[in-house]
Amino acid sequence: MSTPLNVVALSGGTGRPSRTLALTEAILAELGHHLHIKAQLIELGDIARPLGGALWRSELPDSVEQQLRLIEKADLLVVTTPVYRGSFPGHFKHLFDLIGQDALIDTPVLLAATGGSERHALVLDHQLRPLFSFLQALTLPIGVYASQAELADYRVTSEALAARIRLAAERAVPLFAAHHVLRKSA
Ligand SMILES: Cc1cc2nc3c(=O)[nH]c(=O)nc-3n(C[C@H](O)[C@H](O)[C@H](O)COP(=O)(O)O)c2cc1C
Repeated sequence: MSTPLNVVALSGGTGRPSRTLALTEAILAELGHHLHIKAQLIELGDIARPLGGALWRSELPDSVEQQLRLIEKADLLVVTTPVYRGSFPGHFKHLFDLIGQDALIDTPVLLAATGGSERHALVLDHQLRPLFSFLQALTLPIGVYASQAELADYRVTSEALAARIRLAAERAVPLFAAHHVLRKSA
């Protein structure tokens, strides 16, 4: 068995339950069907307060510093955020302001977002993708946007959303050939 792919997921939701967390977990589960992964999940809500109190990286408490290092060392990042005012939340941006400017160069990033409205789906391409382009990360071509209605009861309840998650994972798989899960045919 190959060394597992180190997948780090950041869920940008700040409450519980969280649709953003539900989407993140669904993406991780789908990736796990195709790839041999070790998944580590960071919930922004767990670190947002100490993170927000630090203006410089050196001011971060150790526990939060460890989470930023996880992000910087990922083989694949899954980044999921709720839409706030047509973009990502300020505390989400603050986290990436404290990530090393060169730390994500060439890191593959699967982008995902949840929003109240279907009309903000372009947040992936107009807000998230430029941020990760600045960081010289390799954003995957297919991201996943989910509206509130598709995550009723904080679960993936829409078949169309499930299909988008599958497509995003399937399109990511060829990048990580060494980690493919070989399935026995029925
Ligand atoms: C401050 C705030 C601003 C929001 N702005 C938008 C918005 O501009 N567009 C949108 O579609 N949804 C917006 N929403 C709705 C959230 O994006 C949506 O409910 C999301 O799924 C919440 O994720 P969570 O359950 O992980 O917190 C906003 C919510 C909050 C609290």
